[in-house]
Amino acid sequence: MVNPLGKLFGGSIFGFLHKGSSVLGIDIGSSSIKVVQLRKERGAAVLETYGELSLGPYAGIEIGRAVNLDAEKLAEALLDVLKEANITTKNCGISIPFAASLISLIKMPMLNEAQLKKMIPIEARKYIPVPITEVALDWFILPEEGRRFLSSEAEAEGEVEEAKFRKVDVLLVAIHNETLAKYNAVVARGNLVASFFEIEIFSTIRSTIVQNTTPIMVIDMGAATTKLYIVEYGIVRSSHIVNKGAQDITLALSRMLGVSVAKAEEIKRESGITGKSGDQNISTAALLTLEYIFSESKRVMLQYQERYRRNISSILFVGGGALLKGLLPHAQTKFETDVRLGLPFSRTQSPAFLEQVLLETGPSFSVAVGIALRKLEEMS
Ligand SMILES: Nc1ncnc2c1ncn2[C@@H]1O[C@H](COP(=O)(O)OP(=O)(O)OP(=O)(O)O)[C@@H](O)[C@H]1O
Ligand SMILES: [Mg+2]
Repeated sequence: MVNPLGKLFGGSIFGFLHKGSSVLGIDIGSSSIKVVQLRKERGAAVLETYGELSLGPYAGIEIGRAVNLDAEKLAEALLDVLKEANITTKNCGISIPFAASLISLIKMPMLNEAQLKKMIPIEARKYIPVPITEVALDWFILPEEGRRFLSSEAEAEGEVEEAKFRKVDVLLVAIHNETLAKYNAVVARGNLVASFFEIEIFSTIRSTIVQNTTPIMVIDMGAATTKLYIVEYGIVRSSHIVNKGAQDITLALSRMLGVSVAKAEEIKRESGITGKSGDQNISTAALLTLEYIFSESKRVMLQYQERYRRNISSILFVGGGALLKGLLPHAQTKFETDVRLGLPFSRTQSPAFLEQVLLETGPSFSVAVGIALRKLEEMS
């Protein structure tokens, strides 16, 4: 549980004064729930409180590991973290895991809005591998600048004129009804008022990417998986899931050192890549997993660069796995591109004494902060 702000701002004084104007961002990850409460003050997003709670123990396993909990258990954990973090509002938005969604970029004839509304669900059948009745569909037309840059894809396909003048690019998003039902059940049990569900990468983009006229690769290192996205003009252009994540480092370490998984998790968080004790096993366990994730990332990068003839200008690490000490310098030696950590709290105002801890834990909260920022926009 991380909650240094809870004691200061989550109590009755601030809770009372700002009741109604505070908003809550909730990120239910596979290994932990993160919550962030913000309020708007003179146009700025002010951080009121935040917190994180590991889900492993709710399924009888160690912290740091991915679990698949039902709505009842998730709601129980959510209520626990809301309480521990001194969250004072019920007005929230919630993220949806990328894995529960389908995102496609499709081309449509340049029709009017009403016509598109009719045609898109029909067209979507081609791209969505499950019956259209089993998903909730959302879509939006890419802004002009996005369209312009996308025309180079069309150029590659030899249809410049057509793409520029007669077609629009539409981002199609589908979420399984089952997922929505589960999240609605969590919201109801948690006694919350959720006005939207948002696929996690959109939240991360909002909180961590400011300037995006050149492609950026986002590497979200979760517990069981790592999600890779290429984002350009704020739009997800390519996405992949790698079946390795931060928990694989822990599991390898546990095997190598012959210690419990819980102990290995502790050692990993304490020592980072190099290992404070200089133990070679620690580096080996971390580097083996990272090697795999990085080589997949490079493959995806190269594929994108070759296809669209644009270089990835920067790599952004987010997720709890990005907190691994020494990750950034190591990644710098492995990629020939600018490498950074996501800094979602830089979009919020917070007390100076928290600066360091927010810098360090920021990557974990990219999704939750992004959700809270959207909710703030919605309230104003
Ligand atoms: N300080 C740390 N050092 C190293 N690893 C860490 C640290 N803190 C957390 N982790 C690792 O981060 C992982 C969890 O990351 P995160 O919270 O982003 O996952 P998640 O959001 O629950 O998963 P997903 O997004 O895949 O559903 C855990 O496996 C944990 O071991
Ligand atoms: Mg996550």
